[in-house]
Amino acid sequence: MTTTSADQLFHPDNARAYASGITDGLRLMVDQLATLDRPVTGLSPELAAKPVLDVDLDRPLGSTADALTEVRRLWLDDTVWFHDTKYAAHLNCPVVIPALVAELLLSAVNTSMDTFDQSVGGTYMERHLIDWTAGRAGYPEATRDGIFTSGGSQSNLQALLLARGEAQGRGVPLERLRFFTSADCHFSIAKSARMLGMGDAAAIAVPTDASRRMDIDALHRLLAECVADGLVPAAIVATAGTTDFGVIDPLHAIADACVEYGAWFHVDAAYGGGLLASPRYRHLLDGVERSDSITIDFHKTWFQPVSSSALLVRDLATMAHASWYADYLNPKESENPNQVDKSVQTTRRFDAVKLWMTLRVMGPDQVGSYFDTVIDLAREIHGRLLEAHDIEVAAPSQLSTVVFRYHDPRLDEEALGEVNRRIRAELWSSGRGVVAGTKVDGRQFLKFTLLNPKATVTDILDIVEQVRSLGRSVLEDAR
Ligand SMILES: Cc1ncc(COP(=O)(O)O)c(C=O)c1O
Repeated sequence: MTTTSADQLFHPDNARAYASGITDGLRLMVDQLATLDRPVTGLSPELAAKPVLDVDLDRPLGSTADALTEVRRLWLDDTVWFHDTKYAAHLNCPVVIPALVAELLLSAVNTSMDTFDQSVGGTYMERHLIDWTAGRAGYPEATRDGIFTSGGSQSNLQALLLARGEAQGRGVPLERLRFFTSADCHFSIAKSARMLGMGDAAAIAVPTDASRRMDIDALHRLLAECVADGLVPAAIVATAGTTDFGVIDPLHAIADACVEYGAWFHVDAAYGGGLLASPRYRHLLDGVERSDSITIDFHKTWFQPVSSSALLVRDLATMAHASWYADYLNPKESENPNQVDKSVQTTRRFDAVKLWMTLRVMGPDQVGSYFDTVIDLAREIHGRLLEAHDIEVAAPSQLSTVVFRYHDPRLDEEALGEVNRRIRAELWSSGRGVVAGTKVDGRQFLKFTLLNPKATVTDILDIVEQVRSLGRSVLEDAR
């Protein structure tokens, strides 16, 4: 008979082993922080792959210390550090300490949020946070609700599931349903239409205007065409903070269109949702209170560790489209408040406690002022770049992105694209800064997404200087 050592289980008998393992991990992280001086080391995929794939997972190292040393070599030493002020690429935020403390607890307890009998107070903490956030969005107290999700993509999927359910409930066949969304929306909207069995053609991209916001005349034209073709606008999705341009679609005008066509109004505020806590820019979300549902990513502009997102809904009753009752988990007759009744996930992390700790330690104004700070930074950088003769800047952001590129009037579009792609790759390899790349109407650009309230104008202009100098040297190499 084999005996199984239970030494590694989280259990009161192993409290010392637990404390020692966590202390080792903590020490490693603190050591690592002390040595970091750049956002990345610039490793290529080829160099990153081999040492990882060489590990024989059938042969354990046997000690936490050794495993941590290996993890450090394979991951931490070359990872991407979002807290570094020269990281300015994607929508990743540095995270706040109260949330990290909560993360430690929630992982150890391993609470699952599907049912009350697996979470107890956790269910009410999540509900209270959802109600508080929905209140900030201006939803009516009597009906509002929502659920924490794994991220913006899942929140959008669930919103559209509800929109589809409402339209089908009115007797509209699936193949006649259409979703309208701006051409600059996040890809998860079109992907949701596919996952919901409506097909790619069901997501209709509305062109944007000169400020890159949804063009309302075009929306009305497309809506009218849709109805004339015997199709049904099931939902209009506004983006409150587009991924590239950080602009907010005209919320009131879209709300009006939804009323006119009887369509569900979803606001994808995955990026702009942090404005709900903003002391100075909350007004940018005016009109959001007229929506039926809102996506909020706490793991973007609320400085929370991944994952932490929510779907808010105006009317709890619409969540029925996501409900399923199982005798072994959440029987219909259960009187317990079971969160799984309104979630597309079953087992689900207690991410809410991270936001809870954050709010209880820092309060909403401080979190919101982090976002305000990076919005101000983006405005300042955009203004500075407009003055530069060798930089081209795209439409200004209402939030914290800056879309720009190195520019030389002697180059044609293809050459400009190649130079900017090379700049981005070489900047990565240098480890001295990280920027994103994107295309604007088919033309290659670079992008700053500024989410670090510790980053200064000097930090970001330093990256711009590197972009310039790399641009010049790429051109010289090409001669
Ligand atoms: C506007 C918008 N919506 C949705 C998402 C998807 O969020 P997640 O990555 O959390 O799934 C993003 C991600 O960047 C986004 O920018």
